[in-house]
Amino acid sequence: MKVLITGSDGLLGMKLVKYFEEHFETIPTYQTKINESSIKMDITLKDEVETVIRKIQPNIIVHCAAMTNVDECETNKKQAELVNVTGTKNIAELACENGCKLVYLSTDYIFDGLKGYYKETDIPNPISYYGKSKLKGEEAVKNICKDFIIARSSVLYGWHPVRLNYVTWIISELKKGNKINIVTDQFNSPTLNDNLCEMLLKLIENNQIGIFNTTGGERISRFDFAIKISDIFGLNRNLINPITADQLSWKAKRPKDTSLDTTKIAKFIKPLNIAEGLNRLKNEIEKM
Ligand SMILES: NC(=O)c1ccc[n+]([C@@H]2O[C@H](COP(=O)([O-])OP(=O)(O)OC[C@H]3O[C@@H](n4cnc5c(N)ncnc54)[C@H](OP(=O)(O)O)[C@@H]3O)[C@@H](O)[C@H]2O)c1
Repeated sequence: MKVLITGSDGLLGMKLVKYFEEHFETIPTYQTKINESSIKMDITLKDEVETVIRKIQPNIIVHCAAMTNVDECETNKKQAELVNVTGTKNIAELACENGCKLVYLSTDYIFDGLKGYYKETDIPNPISYYGKSKLKGEEAVKNICKDFIIARSSVLYGWHPVRLNYVTWIISELKKGNKINIVTDQFNSPTLNDNLCEMLLKLIENNQIGIFNTTGGERISRFDFAIKISDIFGLNRNLINPITADQLSWKAKRPKDTSLDTTKIAKFIKPLNIAEGLNRLKNEIEKM
């Protein structure tokens, strides 16, 4: 079984390549060529996508590549549309033409956050351009492909050699002794990148098709999550200052509660709770 991965140097993609290499013939692709042997595939260039997919002939494409900075998507909608919508259409069309399964990574930000604990069947209503572009990507996948998985995730965290994410940023700031302001009124379902890899593997192994919430198993506010991070990593929780979202001036609106219901994925694998995910990350970092 050949699996081609897009966005292979991202927070999820990098972990997924390592994880899937143990199970499949895994082909990482990158927006830019990172070394002599790496495969460049800019998803916005249809010809390039066509050449690579025709040559590799994967059985499965896991499409992680995206413009993920929520505020940048708001200020540069054209680029967000190009990467998250046109890029996804390019991948979906080539997946369909070459008879391969497409696994598309989507987000909790397709919801307006007024309800929380969203099920796969709830109606999306994004309030940011990032959310809108990812939802358009979902629609392209559903319209173009028959054999697809849409895996919706939330506040992805984990170890990455270069880029900080919510958890590693908090660890880094608290270690430096910096005070940080964290909102108490925004709720999500944080997801360890390793656990998301395991969920995607289970869905593929079980030949699943359709939409799945693939997040951690616990809803938490950003503030309470920051406190748990400081406690588990032995850092000073007094540096974390609680504020509310209206005290911040983000470019894009943030939904209040986009926690996802994980009942459907839990039939295949147990989503980790916050303490389990953070302790796994701590063990990984300590072994380095
Ligand atoms: N991070 C989260 O909290 C979160 C939450 C829910 C869902 N998701 C979804 O999960 C997926 C993975 O997220 P992530 O956090 O791993 O993202 P990430 O770390 O920001 O990585 C995104 C990847 O996409 C690549 N990319 C961007 N434009 C591209 C293009 N034109 N052609 C090819 N590759 C391109 C980037 O390449 P460069 O490194 O070269 O820029 C990077 O490798 C995304 O689809 C995202 O929407 C993420």
